[in-house]
Amino acid sequence: MKIDRRGFIEKAFGTVVGVGTVASLYAMKRTWDPLPSVTAAGFLTLDMTKYTKYNHLYLEKWRGQPIFIIRKSKNMIENMSSSSNKYQKQDKKRDIVIANSHFLMCIGICTHLGCIPVYRPQDDNFLCPCHGAMYDFSGMVTKPPAPRGFDIPPFKRDGNKLILGLDSPEYQKLVKEHATLNKT
Ligand code: FES
Repeated sequence: MKIDRRGFIEKAFGTVVGVGTVASLYAMKRTWDPLPSVTAAGFLTLDMTKYTKYNHLYLEKWRGQPIFIIRKSKNMIENMSSSSNKYQKQDKKRDIVIANSHFLMCIGICTHLGCIPVYRPQDDNFLCPCHGAMYDFSGMVTKPPAPRGFDIPPFKRDGNKLILGLDSPEYQKLVKEHATLNKT
């Protein structure tokens, strides 16, 4: 096939423009997409099946804050329902139940002045070293000066996973029942 000089130049130019356009669009998309670090900072997926030990504090990090997770043992659940402690009336509401397992999942920051409390599994409670506030294993405050229980971050359920950073009717129910503050 015979291609004249003018036709060849037009075709070559067209190819260069086409490749250039695709490259530009790709570069623009890369510019507009959030950075992986931003995405990771906004959302955290917790696969709750990996927290297998009972009464063990698992620590995760979401938006620079510690996240406490505890899978409650049978004993803990039984104690919880029989407790007459006024603070513990909220306990059941705060539980996140996945595949029949009860979990504490909350932001691990003292609601007094922001220290990180220590979990004491032998006593089933948290002690804040700064001014002595205490919390039970459901994250409810049992000793001042902390004004309220640990906050629960917004979350959405996805099967056995929780996606932190997303709102959901389940989370809003906790807010409505004053089991946590609205952090969305
Ligand atoms: S910061 Fe925890 S008791 Fe004050």
